[in-house]
Amino acid sequence: CGIVGYVGEKPALDVVLEGLRRLEYRGYDSAGVAVLADGKLATEKRAGKITNLEKTLTEHPLPSGMVGMGHTRWATHGAPNDRNAHPHLDNDGQVAVVHNGIIENFARLRADLEKRGHEMRSDTDTEVVAHLLAEEFEGSLAEAMRRVCRKLDGAFTLVAIHAGDPDVVVAARRNSPLVVGRGAGENFLASDVAAFISHTRNAMEIADGQVVELRRDSITVTDFDGNPVTPKEYYVDWDASAAEKGGYDYFMLKEIAEQPRAVADTLLGRIDANGRLTLDEIRLSDDELREIDKIIIVACGTAYHAGLVAKYAIEHWTRIPCEVELASEFRYRDPILDRDTLVIAISQSGETMDTLMAVRHAREQRSRVLAICNVNGSTIPRESDAVLYTHAGPEVGVAATKTFLTQLVACYLVGLYLAQVRGTMFGDEIRAIIAQLADMPDKVEKVLDTIEPVRELARSLADAKAVLFLGRHVGYPVALEGALKLKELAYMHAEAFAAGELKHGPIALIEQDLPVVVVVPPRRGRSVLHDKILSNIQEIRARGAKTIVITEEGDETVAPYADTLIYVPAAPTLLQPLVATVPLQVFACELALARGHDVDRPRNLAKSVTVE
Ligand code: G6P
Repeated sequence: CGIVGYVGEKPALDVVLEGLRRLEYRGYDSAGVAVLADGKLATEKRAGKITNLEKTLTEHPLPSGMVGMGHTRWATHGAPNDRNAHPHLDNDGQVAVVHNGIIENFARLRADLEKRGHEMRSDTDTEVVAHLLAEEFEGSLAEAMRRVCRKLDGAFTLVAIHAGDPDVVVAARRNSPLVVGRGAGENFLASDVAAFISHTRNAMEIADGQVVELRRDSITVTDFDGNPVTPKEYYVDWDASAAEKGGYDYFMLKEIAEQPRAVADTLLGRIDANGRLTLDEIRLSDDELREIDKIIIVACGTAYHAGLVAKYAIEHWTRIPCEVELASEFRYRDPILDRDTLVIAISQSGETMDTLMAVRHAREQRSRVLAICNVNGSTIPRESDAVLYTHAGPEVGVAATKTFLTQLVACYLVGLYLAQVRGTMFGDEIRAIIAQLADMPDKVEKVLDTIEPVRELARSLADAKAVLFLGRHVGYPVALEGALKLKELAYMHAEAFAAGELKHGPIALIEQDLPVVVVVPPRRGRSVLHDKILSNIQEIRARGAKTIVITEEGDETVAPYADTLIYVPAAPTLLQPLVATVPLQVFACELALARGHDVDRPRNLAKSVTVE
C-alpha cells in the first residue's frame, strides 16, 4: 500500500526505508525492499512491521547501491506472509516488482506464463508482472514496462528495477496513486509525497496510463504506447503530518473523499465483460448457494447498519428470508441455525470479538458463514467458509466512512449473485442493477463536489443540544448511521427513528428549533414511501422542528417543508444509501470539528474492539 523508489547519490536503502516509515500510516501487513548494487539485484521482505524487515537487514545486510525501491503491502490477493510480500522477482532474479492495486486478469496471465515454463512462487497477482517484464525485456526496462502494461487489466501502480538496466527505476500508473519527487542529482517516486518531502518538495503528478523512467538526472514520462508526455509539476507546501493525510487535516476527511475510489475498487474485477457477476472468491458452490433457505447477518456498529440495508436488498432480490442481528446479541439467544442457514458476518477489521464469537457459534451449529471484511487475512475471514473482501484500503479514522460504503457494495454484490445463481431475477434485470451500481462512484463524487452547504449547516448547528434523524425503508439504516456518526464524533445526543414510528412516541421529543434530518426516498419506484415521508416532515415541522431534508435532485415536492434542502444525485431506491449517507458523514465530521473535537480519535472509542 506504500511504494517508494529512489535513484541518486545516497545509499538507496536508507532513503527507501525512511520513505516506507513515512507511509506507515497507510496501514500494511508486510514490507520489502530491493536494491541494485554493482549490476546485481538484492532483495529482502518480511511479514509484519517495518521493524521486522529492518532487523533482518541488520542481521543480513544487503549490498549498498544507489538505485532501489520499497513497498509496504496491504494484502488483497494472498495472505499477508513473507512469501506474498513484495518485491516479486522473475525466475532468474533479474527483475524486481512492487505493486499497489489489483491486476484483474492475473489468473489468465499466470496460466499462460506457467504454460511457457515460468514458475510462480507466490499467490499474488503482482508476480505475473515480474515474469512478463523478464519476457519483454530487451535492454530498456521502460519499454518492457509499457509493453506489459498494455496486457494488464485493472488498477495498479507498478515500480520495477532490472539488473540489465541498472541506472533506472521505472514505474507505471493506472488508476492508483503515483507521484515523482524531483531532487538535485536524485529523484524519487512514491505513492504519496509524504515519502519524500524531507528530501524535496518539487513534485510531479503521473497521470493514468503513463510510464515514468527515473534516472539520477532525468525523468522521462510517456504513455503506454511510448508517446512522450509532459507531466504537471507542483510545489508541496504541506508540513509532514499534512502530507501523510494527502493534504487533508484529518484522515477522516481524506477517507470521506476517497469513497468514490473505494466503491469503484470494490466493484473492480467482479463484473465480467457481459455484465454478469463473477464472485469466484465466494468459495460456496452454486448448489450450496441454492440450498440456503435463510440468511442471518451479524455485525456491530456501522457494519450492522450496512447489514440492515442489505436485508432490504437481499430479500427483495432473492426472496430468501434475511434477519439482521447485532453480533453481541446473537449467540446468547440460542438462534435457530442449521446447514441451510447462511450467516453473513460483516466486519471492517475482521477482528471484532462480538462478531467473531457469532461466527464461531454459527459454525458450531453447522451453518455456512460468509465474511464481508476489509482487512485481508484477519481472523473473521480465516474462520469463515468464504469471504468477500471490500477494497476500501486501510481506514485510519476510528469512525467508519469509506468502509461503510464498500460494505454496502459487497452486500449488493452478494444479493445479486444469489439472485443470479438461484434465478430469482431475470439476467437483464440483474445487469441493469449492476450497471446502476457501476454509476455510483461518479454519483458519490458528485455529492462530494457539492458538499459545502452541508458543512456550513453543520457549523451553524454546533451549539445544538440534540439532532434527530428519520428515514423509511433503506433510508432508516442511513438515518441510524447518520446518528451514530454524530454520537461518535460530536458526542451529541443523536437518535434515529423509522419515520413511520415517529407518531408512536418519538414525536413527543419534537420541540421548537430541534434539528431533524430526514432522508427522503426517491420519488420513482416506491413512491408511496416518498409521499408518506412527506407527511412525516409536515408533522414535525408543524411542531417547530428545523427540518433538514436529504432528497434526490429534481425532487421539488419537499422544498416547501424543508428549512434546509440537501440534494443528492438520483439513484434507485435500494442503492440510495450510497449517496444519502455521504452528507451525513460530512455533517457529523464538520459539526465535531466546529465543537473542537479530534475526529480521527474520538474519545472512548477504538477502531477495532477485541473484547466482548
Ligand atoms: C468499533 C468501531 C466502529 C465499528 C465497529 C465494528 O466499535 O468504533 O466504528 O463500526 O467497531 O467494527 P468492524 O471492524 O467489525 O466493522
